[in-house]
Amino acid sequence: MKDTLEKIHKTALEAIEKIQSTSDIEDIRNTYLSRKSELNNIKKNLKDLSNDDKRIIGSLSNQISKDIEEKLNEKYQVFYQKELNEKLEKERIDITMPGVFTPFGKTHPLTQTIDEITKIFQGMGFSLVHNENSPEVETEYFNFDMLNIPKDHPARDMQDTFYTKVAPNVILRSQTSGAQIHEMLTTKPPIRVVAPGRVYRCESVSARKNNLFHQIEGLLVDKDITFADLKGVMNEFLRLYFGSARPTRFRNSFFPFTEPSAEVDVQCIMCHGKGCRVCSGTGWLEILGAGMVDPNVLRNVDIDPEVYSGFAFGMGVERLAMLKWAIDDIRLFFNNDVRFLKQF
Ligand code: DAH
Repeated sequence: MKDTLEKIHKTALEAIEKIQSTSDIEDIRNTYLSRKSELNNIKKNLKDLSNDDKRIIGSLSNQISKDIEEKLNEKYQVFYQKELNEKLEKERIDITMPGVFTPFGKTHPLTQTIDEITKIFQGMGFSLVHNENSPEVETEYFNFDMLNIPKDHPARDMQDTFYTKVAPNVILRSQTSGAQIHEMLTTKPPIRVVAPGRVYRCESVSARKNNLFHQIEGLLVDKDITFADLKGVMNEFLRLYFGSARPTRFRNSFFPFTEPSAEVDVQCIMCHGKGCRVCSGTGWLEILGAGMVDPNVLRNVDIDPEVYSGFAFGMGVERLAMLKWAIDDIRLFFNNDVRFLKQF
């Protein structure tokens, strides 16, 4: 019995010498110290031995378990620490390293301009037209006919229109003015709306012209509206958008859907009046057309011109943005070069 115990002790110590990891320690603990171990079996059967043997074998088996237990604990200290260090080393992070840069998107300068202008008009009591009253794919009927521009009228050539193959009359709108008609057909005066959106013209592209650009249409119809109201609203808009120091001017003009008609110019800040490719040497850039709604247009939508009058305007968003930030080429808005876009 004593020999058996010593043999167990010897093999246990040999196994302890070969330990490589904390999981080896667990295995040895199971083999030699668990309830099912040989050592525990001997202890369990002590009751069958003589009193002398009970004492000797009992104390020897206890010593052996204690010794194995102690040696395993020592090994555990060593290997636990070693494994912990390895794990920490492997998972080490350099907290001084710069983080991964996530670029943020920004609102496009044209969207910013539209938002700013719309807010100014909302401040003066205008509201936004619903999308369905301002479609980009239009019919000639809304884009021209209802706006008092008959088929043979030279004004149709003023704006080179993109025709589609959907149907002979279906076009990409050349102006936002059609929104006026949609709005007047679906609401009754008083009307006070703005309609921002894209328009398309088949023109050669240059620093001042693009095939696609944006306009903001405005329409106000009520009783006793005069040209003075139009001028007041336009001047207030110019003051709020450009500040009062920027030179602007009204010029008389012609549009088939307004009578009388006017245009507003703003001094070119790319050349400060000296003449450049953007203002084509005039020192001024036209930013909007406007006028009193022509009685023919009111009649087209069943609004009695004897009772109601109104004014309308349509402004070029790109031009307004160029004149605010001194951008000398309209194409910059459409190239999507981040070096340009991130400046706004
Ligand atoms: N639609 C015109 C254009 O694109 C601009 C314009 C002029 C709009 C007079 C209006 C207006 O509402 O009253 O050139």
